[in-house]
Amino acid sequence: MTPTIDSDRLWQSIMDMAEIGPTPEGGSCRLALTSEDTAARALFLRWCKPLGLHHDQDAIGNMFLRRAGSDTTAPAIAFGSHLDTVPTGGRFDGIAGVLAGLEVLRALHDAGIATRAPLELVNWMNEEGSRFSPAMMGSRVAAGELPLARALAITDDAGISVAQALADSGQGGALTPAPRDWSAWLELHIEQGPVMEATGAEIGIVVGTMHARYFQITVTGEPSHVGPTEMNRRHDSLAAAAEVIMEVERAGLAAEPGGRASTSWIENTPNARGNVPHITRLHFDVRHNSQEAAVAMDASLRQSMSGIAERRGVRIDVNPYAAFGPIAFDRRLGALLRQKAAARQLTTRDMIAAAGHDSVFMAPLVPSAMLFVPSVAGITHNPKEYSTKEQVARGAQVLLDAVLELAGI
Ligand code: GLV
Ligand code: MN
Ligand code: MN
Repeated sequence: MTPTIDSDRLWQSIMDMAEIGPTPEGGSCRLALTSEDTAARALFLRWCKPLGLHHDQDAIGNMFLRRAGSDTTAPAIAFGSHLDTVPTGGRFDGIAGVLAGLEVLRALHDAGIATRAPLELVNWMNEEGSRFSPAMMGSRVAAGELPLARALAITDDAGISVAQALADSGQGGALTPAPRDWSAWLELHIEQGPVMEATGAEIGIVVGTMHARYFQITVTGEPSHVGPTEMNRRHDSLAAAAEVIMEVERAGLAAEPGGRASTSWIENTPNARGNVPHITRLHFDVRHNSQEAAVAMDASLRQSMSGIAERRGVRIDVNPYAAFGPIAFDRRLGALLRQKAAARQLTTRDMIAAAGHDSVFMAPLVPSAMLFVPSVAGITHNPKEYSTKEQVARGAQVLLDAVLELAGI
């Protein structure tokens, strides 16, 4: 019958990967294209080596590991996720999906099973977007949603471009990023929320994602001295930005349970003691299950920002630089995952993903689906992020069962 996931091997791989860029609290920090991310990629390739996979890499750093099928003309069944993390990353976000995919290939290899269709395991570059924004950069570029040249020119907070980081890390491959010859895309991911644990669901069938809108804003005031400048003569960009931050939080609170809004990045100039700040930049995003509701949050925040700008005599430039979703994943693939979970006596629950995932950019190109495994206490982007060995292994088994059915023997 179908081969079985080796839960100990999968768990050990996840634990070993976490030792690259370890943080004192037990998580990992592997920002895209840093030496830690590069080391993680090398370890991943080392693990792939004995499986006889063909390795391709594209010019934005996406990694494709291909297992040949007996039908050389068949499109591949693809799966994977990402190995990069946020600065306060845990051990599972993205990693579970890549290494569950690796375990699928290892289990097939051990069982000596050749599939009809080829299989392709993917590590997408810079899913997190912590160092280089926007998030899901590699999949966006591969999907044609973000032009390669534009992505290469994006810089991190130190002014290093994606192009430079790819060159320095040796991660820029020869392939031109493009949609690949796949007939299905599957991504296993941790839930990153508390719902599955609370409801006792073992496998989450992700039927779609929220709609998210990302903004960069620049508040421009006037530099002045914190002493002699009377309060009413100031055009303080940081104080204005603080009001924006509170408005964003209020918008998120008002949009629960379907919506969220968060400011997650700030840069303040000159950021010098003694100076009233005059340039403050923020990054925030709004997201909602309903696109209409997210658009309404966007509109109401823009209105609040013009009010703040007028009252404080500052300028606020709004750059809505990225968006994703809402995506409805492929119903047939969702049904297949549900059926494979049921066949293993696992309970399922249909879910909407609130985080961005590379699958969002695959869905318009190829039938795509995601499955979730539970996150203990819903903790994520945190060193305490955790799923049990059994939870991850169950998801990997469903992934393997689905891949085998799609690829055929
Ligand atoms: C990225 O994962 C996001 O949800 O913004
Ligand atoms: Mn992720
Ligand atoms: Mn993440």
